[in-house]
Amino acid sequence: MEITEMTLDDLESMKDTLYSDFDNFWSYNILKQELQNEKTTYIIAKENNEVVGFAGLSIIFDEATLNNIVVKKSCRGRGIGGELLETLIDLCSDLNAKFFTLEVNVTNTPAIKLYEKFGFKNLGIRKKYYNNSTDAYIMTKYDI
Ligand SMILES: CC(C)(COP(=O)(O)OP(=O)(O)OC[C@H]1O[C@@H](n2cnc3c(N)ncnc32)[C@H](O)[C@@H]1OP(=O)(O)O)[C@@H](O)C(=O)NCCC(=O)NCCS
Repeated sequence: MEITEMTLDDLESMKDTLYSDFDNFWSYNILKQELQNEKTTYIIAKENNEVVGFAGLSIIFDEATLNNIVVKKSCRGRGIGGELLETLIDLCSDLNAKFFTLEVNVTNTPAIKLYEKFGFKNLGIRKKYYNNSTDAYIMTKYDI
């Protein structure tokens, strides 16, 4: 597996499978805007020239925010999410971010466990954050 910065060509290569093979958190159009935003960096994991996961962050001053991390459904549980998150944490360090924050649906156990494994701490809750119904945990990693 190799991890590289996501390009518009990579996004085009995923366009038809984004909803079916990944998750429908983010649409093609929003991801395209994200790639054009200078405060945002996206990375992809590739196996045999095929995208198997992607993740992105924004950095504003010394705070990094995780925008998204998704592994292809058929490739989960093989360490790809961990490698993507580790790469973003290294990037935070390179870009002199002091802390790394994210929101996660309180029902999303795989993601919460992933973040805990990499040192994120649950610091609070945003009530009815998703579709005005489900709560989100705010998780932050300080030891970057
Ligand atoms: C969350 C997600 C990115 C994890 O990716 P993954 O490649 O399956 O994760 P990994 O195989 O690297 O696992 C790393 C750690 O995550 C946790 N984890 C992953 N899947 C898990 C599961 N089904 N149940 C519990 N913990 C899980 C574990 O702590 C695991 O470490 P371990 O293997 O030492 O136990 C993946 O499940 C996914 O794409 N989910 C849908 C999108 C999403 O919810 N993204 C987060 C919000 S934007």
